[in-house]
Amino acid sequence: MSAVQPVVLRSLARSLRNVRGGKAPVLAGHKLLYRCNLECAMCPFWRRNDEVLLGLADEVRVMEALARAGVSFLGFEGGEPLLRHDLPALLEEAYGRFHTSLVTNGWLLEHRLPEIARHLDVLCVSLDGIGATHDRLRGTPRSFERAVAGIKASRHEVPTVISHTVTRENLEDAERVVDLAEALDVGVTVQVAYDYRGADPMAPAPADLLPTIERLRDRKRSGAPIMESVEYFDAIVGSWYRGTPWRSKPWLTINVDPSGRIVLPCYVLQEYQGGLPAWEVDIRRLWNSFDWAPYAACNRCALACYLEPSLFRWTNLAHLRERVVGATWRYARRAAWAAVHRRPGGVVPTGGGGA
Ligand SMILES: C[S@@+](CC[C@H](N)C(=O)[O-])C[C@H]1O[C@@H](n2cnc3c(N)ncnc32)[C@H](O)[C@@H]1O
Ligand code: SF4
Repeated sequence: MSAVQPVVLRSLARSLRNVRGGKAPVLAGHKLLYRCNLECAMCPFWRRNDEVLLGLADEVRVMEALARAGVSFLGFEGGEPLLRHDLPALLEEAYGRFHTSLVTNGWLLEHRLPEIARHLDVLCVSLDGIGATHDRLRGTPRSFERAVAGIKASRHEVPTVISHTVTRENLEDAERVVDLAEALDVGVTVQVAYDYRGADPMAPAPADLLPTIERLRDRKRSGAPIMESVEYFDAIVGSWYRGTPWRSKPWLTINVDPSGRIVLPCYVLQEYQGGLPAWEVDIRRLWNSFDWAPYAACNRCALACYLEPSLFRWTNLAHLRERVVGATWRYARRAAWAAVHRRPGGVVPTGGGGA
């Protein structure tokens, strides 16, 4: 039996338990560190000086706590996760428990890919624009070239997705990034920059953003490999321009900082629940006693980790087709391919696809 199959069965069991057992997180984002090898204008994390890292044993305790709470999808982020030397061991532990993803700036990707690909379900590589635009926003020459070289190497090893953040300085590049994703035969995920405290204000002015969002929605409709749903773009247009907010379900996502603490409700609001590490918290109890009401109307960000899960409806046929049937099919294809190649947790034969 392929090593990926038990993960699928466990996630199904967790999902069923979640349906019965009140509020529970389904997706987790875990910052493995704040440190970074780049200095992006819009990013607050590389500027922080309060980083405390966990060792492997404590990282596993975090994973166990997340699994107990009901999490099925674990995404690693940072800072720059590829700076962690123990990343392969961390991913191996995670891959036995969750569907795994990681987002990287791609600078070290070609070099580290062989150690990490087999324990990832999806790899996201950030691209803020084409060529000089990306390099300027990332604060480092050659970062575009390095990221694209990483994508070219990874797309044959693991489903690879470009992660594009729309800022006030790259509005014209969004469609070109979609073109690049098509040319490279990978997916692309799009989010809108949020003005974090402590970072350069890079969120686009609402009036300037609208045409870009509408063009991206049109590209999605006409089959571009954009991971977000048409409803995702509709929700941004509705809440920011038409006065019809989407209803946020922030309990579907849990964030864990580098020291293992739960950031509740999210990094944008930067609130923490006490100083305890995740493994010392009864997350299910916290999730069902926390007052979520003030956040149900929170439409401040358009970060896909909150917006897209909040939009999911079991009664929406398009969601069922894309998010449940499509995702299961991609997963089964991957498991079958891995079994044939005798490589547990192996890879799909083509790039593209997504979580
Ligand atoms: C914080 S980075 C960490 C992972 C890795 N260093 C990278 O750049 O991909 C994760 C994602 O957050 C995005 N990001 C950075 N600053 C942001 C902001 N102010 N608003 C929205 N997304 C942002 C980045 O573009 C990147 O795709
Ligand atoms: S967005 Fe990623 S690459 Fe850029 S500074 Fe932040 S953590 Fe580093």
